[in-house]
Amino acid sequence: MNDTFLRACRGESVEYTPIWIMRQAGRYLPEYQKVRAKVDFLTLCKTPELAAEVTIQPVDILGVDAAILFSDILIPVEAMGMKLRFLERKGPVLNRPIRTERDLKRLKRIEPEVDLPFVLDTIKILRKALRRKVPLIGFAGAPFTLATYMIEGGSSKNFLNTKTMMLSEPQLFHNLMGKITEVTETYLSAQIKAGAQAVQIFDSWAGALAPDDYKAFSLPYVKRIISNLRPLGVPIIYFVNNCGGLLELARTSGADVIGIDWRVDIGKAITRLGRDVSVQGNLDPVALFSDEKVLERKVGDILKKGRRAKGHVFNLGHGILPQTPPHMARALVEMVHELSSKQ
Ligand code: CP3
Repeated sequence: MNDTFLRACRGESVEYTPIWIMRQAGRYLPEYQKVRAKVDFLTLCKTPELAAEVTIQPVDILGVDAAILFSDILIPVEAMGMKLRFLERKGPVLNRPIRTERDLKRLKRIEPEVDLPFVLDTIKILRKALRRKVPLIGFAGAPFTLATYMIEGGSSKNFLNTKTMMLSEPQLFHNLMGKITEVTETYLSAQIKAGAQAVQIFDSWAGALAPDDYKAFSLPYVKRIISNLRPLGVPIIYFVNNCGGLLELARTSGADVIGIDWRVDIGKAITRLGRDVSVQGNLDPVALFSDEKVLERKVGDILKKGRRAKGHVFNLGHGILPQTPPHMARALVEMVHELSSKQ
């Protein structure tokens, strides 16, 4: 197996910089569209053979160094008892959002083997299929990011209800975070036991918080999850979107790897993160809409700066966009491999 990705996470020496791409299985790939034409998104997530098939697609088509389980961060939220739908164009919708202590009481703990067997079955199929290929990454949303969906009832721009609850009813907010944290820990630990060889925690909306609020309301829960997963021995990646104002705090999370977005210079981010953690990122997803010359300049710069980190896993700074030309994603993977093995 190509274990370059796992070695870079741990800060061990590698022959080239490994790369995977957030949202690498998705609508920009015609091969994904073909599977997706037959079933809706949630059915795809809940059908292990199909979920495994689309997980492997980018490994074979692009040549990335890791696979990421095909699922969604909101799948365990549904298992907690909230009705989940994905609407074309509108994204996720959760009925009856959590706004009061009574709403909170509706939320259940989960037993992954009973409530989410399809996730664990997908992982088992994938470990067999990927045996001679690349490692498998499991994932979950960070508690704050999940809380935004549960409180807003879907995607949000200003997180008005979430932040209002946080600031005006902090105890209610902490109680909700405690419940989500417990579920997330159970869920990630089940993924690792089923065969996930690394896990990523997506804090996609933490960057919307003032640093003090991030420190009080998001970070402690991420720390708790990471320290409780530690004994399971797999690398833990903590992705913080819009991380520019939060890096000094994020470095205290206990993660092996901090994932960063493109709004921050990776060289400066590495200085701020220190030598104890590896770094993942951080190409602007829109760079894949330029030409190969521009792309090469940007990739070369990130690789050069990335060499100063304990370890560097190349990635985009956030998910690949649905309109991305697949040949540019393939060019990116080749470029990262070639340029980094020469440096
Ligand atoms: O990275 C991968 O290839 C693995 C699969 C994956 C998906 N979602 C598939 C998906 C992962 C890791 C996620 C995580 C996820 N989901 C996050 C965190 C990452 C991030 O982007 O910040 C978030 C915030 C979500 C919630 C979510 N899921 C939204 C807001 C949407 C709608 C927007 C959109 O892109 O359509 C989704 C749907 C979704 N999740 C799709 C895919 C492939 C598109 C569904 C389709 O096929 O129509």
